[in-house]
This record gives sequence, C-alpha cells and structure tokens, in this order.
Amino acid sequence: MRPRRICCIGAGYVGGPTMAVIADRCPDLTVTVVDLNAARVAAWNDPDLSRLPVYEPGLDAVVGRCRGRNLFFSTAVEQAIAAADMVFLSVNTPTKTRGLGAGQASDLKWVEASARTVAEAATGHTIVVEKSTLPVRTAEAIQAILGSGRPGQSFSVLSNPEFLAEGTAIRDLEEPDRVLIGGADPEAIEALAAIYARWVPQPRILRTNLWSSELSKLTANAFLAQRISSINSIAAFCEATGADVSEVARAIGADTRIGEKFLQAGPGFGGSCFQKDILNLVYLCRHYGLEEVAAYWEQVVRLNTWQQHRIARLVVTRLFGTVTGKRIGLLGFAFKADTNDTRESPAIRIARDLLEEGAQLQIVDPKVSEQQITRDLGLPPGEGEGSWQLASGVEAAASGADALVLVTEWDVFARIHWPAVVAVMRQPAWLFDARGRADETAARAAGLRVWRIGQG
Ligand code: UDX
Ligand code: ADP
Repeated sequence: MRPRRICCIGAGYVGGPTMAVIADRCPDLTVTVVDLNAARVAAWNDPDLSRLPVYEPGLDAVVGRCRGRNLFFSTAVEQAIAAADMVFLSVNTPTKTRGLGAGQASDLKWVEASARTVAEAATGHTIVVEKSTLPVRTAEAIQAILGSGRPGQSFSVLSNPEFLAEGTAIRDLEEPDRVLIGGADPEAIEALAAIYARWVPQPRILRTNLWSSELSKLTANAFLAQRISSINSIAAFCEATGADVSEVARAIGADTRIGEKFLQAGPGFGGSCFQKDILNLVYLCRHYGLEEVAAYWEQVVRLNTWQQHRIARLVVTRLFGTVTGKRIGLLGFAFKADTNDTRESPAIRIARDLLEEGAQLQIVDPKVSEQQITRDLGLPPGEGEGSWQLASGVEAAASGADALVLVTEWDVFARIHWPAVVAVMRQPAWLFDARGRADETAARAAGLRVWRIGQG
C-alpha cells in the first residue's frame, strides 16, 4: 500500500504547514489541501507569499518550492477526497460553547461533517488520518461514520497527532522529537510511517494503539501547560517574598530530571491547544467518575486565568488604583511571539480587564491586524474611556501613556530604545514586563518604573 495522492481537509494552522512540509519532502506525492473557506484557500494561493493566511517563519519558502508542483490548495473538497488514497482530517475542534459538556468538551461537529464528506466521496481503499486534537475514542466515532459508506469503499483509521508549536512549526515538522502513529491496521500504519521515514529517523516514529495515540496528545499538552502554571504560581510567590523567578527557573532547570525548557514565567499560556485540551481531559475524567483527577488538571487552567487577571489588576493598583481615561500601551497581542495567532491570547483577557476599568489602550503587534483585535475584544477601535486603538509602533503606543504592558515576547520589544519612548510618555511612567524580556536596566536608566514578572 503506497499512497500517491494525499488530501488534507482543513487549510488552517496545522493542515497548511504540515502538508507543505510533506509535499516538500515527498516530491512524488500529490498533496491537495482543501477547505470550505474560499477566502482562506485564495490566500494560500496568493502569488505574494508574504500574504499566506498563516504566518510561520520559513513557511513561505516551503510553499514557494512546492505550490503548483505537487502542493495544491482548493475548495473542491469531494473531488480531492475521491482522488486520494490517504485523507488527513485537520479541521478545527474548539471547546463546545453550548449544550452537553459546554465550556469543556471538544466540539466535534466539524470532524463529524468532514468524516461524513469522506464517507460520501471516497473511492476504493482510503486511509483516514485524524490530525486534529481529538478526545480519546474519537477515531471510534469516525470509524462508525465511515462504516456506513457505500459498497466498494473501505477505510483504515489512524491517529497521527500534531505536536508542532506555532512560530516554530516548520522546524518542528522538519525535525520532530517524535512522530506518533496510532492504529489497528499494520499496513496502514506502515504506509503513513513510510511517508515520514523520508526525513524522520525510524526510531523517532512511534507506533501505538489508537487510544494511546489520542491520549498522548492530550497528555503532552496537559504536562506542558502544567509546567507553565507551576512556574507562574512560583512567580507570584517570588514577587511576594523577594526571590526572582528567572533565577529559580535556572536553578531548577539545571536538574536534568526537570530540564530547562518551558519554565519561562509570563502572563499565562494562550494558544488554541493547551486550555482546550486540558478542559477536554477534565471532561473525560469526570465522565469516567475520576473527580480527583479532573480537579487536579482543572486547577492548571484556573491558575492560568487567575494569572491573566492578576497582571491587569496589578497595573491598575500601581497606577494609583485607577486607569480611567489613562492611556496604556499594550506591547503585543499575539498569544506568543512569531505568530499572528491570537486564540486564547492572554492579551485578550488583560485588555478586556483594563478596558472595563476605563483605560484607553494603544496596542502594537508586529503581526496582528486591527480586524482581528476587533473580533477578539468584541469592540471596534475608538476614542475615550474604555477604548482601544492600533498603534503603528512602540513610540506611538507609548505616546501620552502612563504605562506600557509587555504581553508578547516579540524580539523588537527586547530591543526598544528606551530614552525615545520614555520621552513621549506621561510621568511617572511605568513598564509592566509580563514576559521578563525587556532591557530592564536601560528602561530604568531612561526613567521608567519597572515591574517585572516574578521579581520580588
Ligand atoms: C502547543 C504545544 O507546544 C504543541 O506541541 C502542540 O501541538 C500545540 O500546543 P503552541 O500553542 O503553538 O503549541 O505554543 P507553545 O510554544 O507551546 O506555547 C503555548 C503558550 O505557553 C504560549 O502562550 C506561550 O507564551 C506560553 N509559554 C510557553 C510560557 O508562558 N512559558 C514557557 O516557558 C513556554
Ligand atoms: P487548526 O489550528 O486545528 O489548524 P484552524 O481553525 O486554523 O484549526 O483550521 C481548520 C480549518 O478547517 C478551517 O480553515 C476550516 O474552514 C476548515 N474546515 C472545517 N470544517 C471543514 C469541512 N467540513 N470541510 C472543509 N474544511 C473544513
């Protein structure tokens, strides 16, 4: 069984980059990425590679090499499925907003819809690969939907979770720590493994059963998020007691059992995965009657939410207890650096809290658009108390402001020329560095009062 034509349903943050790298590494495979969203598909086909719908360092070069050769973006979903011998499901699986499991369970309506489309359109034997993060035992549901297909069709379902992180997606795809393939059909597993084996060493291609693969994805994200909540909890304790969380992180990270990565205290984790996956885990644990286990993981999310509100609260407190009518510059809006993604960004909660207090926000982000911020805050740009505007640069964000709040760790914010920025601010002026990334010495020398995360 050697796949020649691959179809990926969903041209999002996962589907787009993943398929681009597969096409790049396997020139003999034809890879078609389909999406119902015509505007998104058009953006993937834009001749100007700087306008791809997903911003990822290195993605433009990979797409530039393969697009039109063996990588295609299209809205012809059924046609691409019919031609494919392997179909990846890479559609969105957000947390449910209503009904059973609202606020915790994953909404599988897009997965179900795409599985139904596969059942209708596929021809011959098709390997169906779940790529979206899914609750444990979703493959079973997909199998049930596909099982109702027409005669002449047959399916093998695999789970192949994605571990790429935004901002480093291309590197994570080209040099993954591991590739995980879960399934029950050894032939299908080997067919998918053979694709990755073109550039991933065999020992890094792990084969498991379906449920282990699905659960490993949730568990990996839960462990990573737990580390962030752990260090953020210690950051608050450091602030209260006079220790410095960056020193504590360095000291504990030197222990090889703990390791140095993912110990950067900050405004809390964002992104489309961590909160969603933990809430999903919590929901499933409750479903299986494991209340203590559910409560344990739920606390990771609660601490994260608390951390975001805490940052907004301490800004207000330091500015004499009120920010009504005061200008505050927000440095960064993306959930982390090197991405234009704002899903679950800590900036959203912090901005909302400050708007609620009547602040006038001046937001600057190298990659996030005004339209996106409008959607996230549920408020168009405006003037006066409780309003926000997009600033063209750091100085514009600082203009007339009492404070700057560094929310996203973009490189440019580490290289700010502070004297010029402080000159346009209202005194006494503050820098609240929620990422610990600014040049604190230079900021202080320029006359700013500085609060840094985790510094007592
Ligand atoms: C994550 C996982 O890393 C990835 O394996 C999975 O496939 C999807 O979810 P992503 O959400 O893109 O990837 O970003 P990640 O780099 O993990 O960061 C998540 C959040 O944690 C960001 O808001 C980031 O700023 C924050 N973070 C990360 C910290 O606050 N401190 C750290 O030390 C690391
Ligand atoms: P992720 O971060 O998981 O990649 P995104 O939201 O960025 O999630 O992308 C998911 C994509 O899947 C969206 O562009 C959406 O339009 C697409 N999609 C959802 N359901 C279907 C479907 N049934 N057929 C085709 N595309 C779909």
